[in-house]
Amino acid sequence: MPDEPIVAVTRGLPGGALERLGEVAGIRLWEGVGAPPPHALRSLARGADGLLCMLTDRIDAGLLAACPRLQALSSCSVGVDHVDLAAATARGLPVGHTPGVLTETTADLAFALLLALARRVPEAERWLRAGSWTPQRRWEPDLLLGRDVHGATLGVVGVGAIGRAVARRARGFGMRVLGWSRHPKREAADEGVHFVDLERLLADADFVSLHVALTPQTRHLVDAAALARMKPGSCLVNTSRGEVVDEAALAEALAAGRLGGAALDVFEQEPLAPDSPLLGLKGLVLTPHIGSASVATRRRMAELSVENLLAGLAGRRMPHCANPEVYANP
Ligand code: DGY
Repeated sequence: MPDEPIVAVTRGLPGGALERLGEVAGIRLWEGVGAPPPHALRSLARGADGLLCMLTDRIDAGLLAACPRLQALSSCSVGVDHVDLAAATARGLPVGHTPGVLTETTADLAFALLLALARRVPEAERWLRAGSWTPQRRWEPDLLLGRDVHGATLGVVGVGAIGRAVARRARGFGMRVLGWSRHPKREAADEGVHFVDLERLLADADFVSLHVALTPQTRHLVDAAALARMKPGSCLVNTSRGEVVDEAALAEALAAGRLGGAALDVFEQEPLAPDSPLLGLKGLVLTPHIGSASVATRRRMAELSVENLLAGLAGRRMPHCANPEVYANP
């Protein structure tokens, strides 16, 4: 088909989403390992009508300027902090993303991290595998003691869809739930989230779980001052974006024993540098940005990102657009 649109795709996708895209567009797929480096991303996207990217692809104003034909950009992620949204909006380019489909899966991971941290599950497994579970130490009154989750207070920072889903899990585990949001939602309050200001949440919560999007306002929202306000011995869980936390300040607070621990799925620099101070600290559970990583959810994300792209290429409204201002009727 001579006039079929050309779509640049920066990674193979699970399920049949790419086959579906291939029925209406010519696909230019990055075949390398992992994310394309910036120069390769630019050559891949140059001349394309659509771009389907991941959160690891930096879509800045320079890249957008090098791709004047682009009519639609779609990210296989809910977060769009890797995209210069202002530059895309300025030229009327719709940017698709994947909210909703990963809410419950990401909440599952946040809660799994909270439980793993509280009950020292990874540490206990390492201890067993290291051969420390001997007949002499079969069961000890003080072996690997953790924290109770039931009866504890969870502070949810950012009570959007994922924060609410975490709050529901916490209620099911018998926790009291405090929440902080710039725009508190009535439905969340009805589900048992008690909205307080951020200072009070940090001071009262035994576990603090972060669920805000990364924006200039939330970058280092959890800085040295916020960490100092946290209840001594409390634990931080982060499945949002690494830059929401000042990681150096967190490492200091943990090293000083002010906090009880942290469970982190996201980092200021990903992958985590081998010399990160976090790797040398005790009381941490660390995972490699797997919040949405279930088979079914990654398929749904792939399908939704293709739906967004196809709508954008056809001049239709994207089902989930991160910059709806590009439409006459946002
Ligand atoms: C997203 O989609 O933004 C998540 O971070 C991926 O798990």
